[in-house]
This record gives sequence, C-alpha cells and structure tokens, in this order.
Amino acid sequence: MGVKGVVLAGGTGSRLSPLTKVTNKHLLPIYDEPMIYYPLRMLVDAGISDIMVVTGGNSAGDFLKLLGNGEEFGLQQMQYGYQKGAGGIAEALGLTRYFVGNDDVVVVLGDNLLEHSIAGAVDRFREQGGGARVLLKQVHDPERFGVAEIEDDRIARIVEKPTEPRSDLAVIGVYMYDNSVFSFIEGLAPSERGELEITDVNNAYLARGDLRHEVIDGWWTDAGTFESLHHASKLVHRSRFGEDADTA
Ligand code: G1P
Repeated sequence: MGVKGVVLAGGTGSRLSPLTKVTNKHLLPIYDEPMIYYPLRMLVDAGISDIMVVTGGNSAGDFLKLLGNGEEFGLQQMQYGYQKGAGGIAEALGLTRYFVGNDDVVVVLGDNLLEHSIAGAVDRFREQGGGARVLLKQVHDPERFGVAEIEDDRIARIVEKPTEPRSDLAVIGVYMYDNSVFSFIEGLAPSERGELEITDVNNAYLARGDLRHEVIDGWWTDAGTFESLHHASKLVHRSRFGEDADTA
C-alpha cells in the first residue's frame, strides 16, 4: 500500500483580511516564495509523489497557474480538488477520498511550515502499520491550536483551541492517517463554528487506541495570522541566511 499526499489550501483566510480579500491565503508570500510551496515541498521531501491540492475560496484557479502539473517540484502530475464554502479541514480532507483510494495519506495544512523534513516521521508512520500519527510541538500560545494532553507517554485527549490549555503541546498541521480516516469523517458532526474539525478525527483514532504521536525538533509555525505570517517569513529568512542576517 502506498502513501498519498494532500495539501489543504482552502478557507477564507478571514484572519488575514484585507490581504485575503482578493486572493487566497496560501498564495501570499512567505519571504521569497508563495506559502503553498512550503507544505508541498515538505511532502515531496518525504518521498511522496502522488499529491492533491484541495483549494477553494478566492483565486482557486490561480493554483493551477502557479503549480501546473507539479514538474517544478519533481512531480509527474498534480491533482486538484475544490472545496465549496468553509466546511472545515476534515470536510476538505473528505473530498480526497477517491484520490487516496485504498492508500494511506499524509495531510499538510497549506499554511504550516517546518524547519526540518518530515521524512523520518513518515517512515515511522509506515512502520506502525495502520492507525494515525500526529506531530506535536511545544508552543507559548497553545490556546490558538489543537492541544494534546499526554499521560504515560500517550495522548489522553486533544482539545481544539481550549480557553484554558492543560498542556503547551500543539498538534501541528501535519497528520498521517490510514484509510479509515474517510469513515471517521463521514461520522462527524459540525462543531460550534460550523466546521468538521480535524481534532475530532484525531480523537476518533484516539478512542480506537490507534493514535501515535511524536514531538518534532526544530521550529514550526503556521501563517494564518498577521503575527505568524510575519514570523514565518523571518524564520525562513533566518534559516537561509543565518541568525544575524540583515533584513533591510
Ligand atoms: C488548525 C487545527 C488545529 C491545529 C492548527 C495547526 O487550526 O484546527 O488543531 O493545531 O490548524 O496549524 P486553524 O489554524 O485552522 O484554526
């Protein structure tokens, strides 16, 4: 069985308005490249060559213009999916069902950037033989994310954007699932914000005793707010040119 890759690049990007009033968040620049290049390269670097980008909202057609058949990333072809409306991350993933077929899937949120490769984590996912694997990172603002509570080295619970987080471990936007993810998504009900939540998918695996995790090394950021968008550009710049590089 193979592993397919999915980049989720839909949504309205409302937290970045007016930058996202006429274009899609994932086309905005992170230093010298469009945001979507980073998650896409993350999958390619992990040896995943069968990839679907799910987009929607503003400028959906521009992804085709930007990425074409994916040859710039060393791919032979690229698939595209379209999410109508803002039904959430899990809904967008559900749209990839026929593309994923009977394979496993590594899903990356289109606004997530990592310092290091996920190749090792993807290998460990392949070796674990089914279930799901999530990646965690210690953060100073866990209330912005899905937060994992660890007991005896295992995840005991994941809470989406808790007002009073009980840990500082964010579940980052890189998820590895076996094929049962699609039946879990079918069984989901919308959350209070009217979306199908990826945290509910992860908790479904947890309830089945099938959720593994690892804490990643190196920096991680999303880029969905002004602060994190700016921070992401700085991190990329710093990793290219070093700590003391002058940005002026
Ligand atoms: C989403 C997920 C959240 C996760 C985060 C990572 O949040 O719902 O669990 O920690 O991505 O970037 P969003 O930024 O879409 O609100």
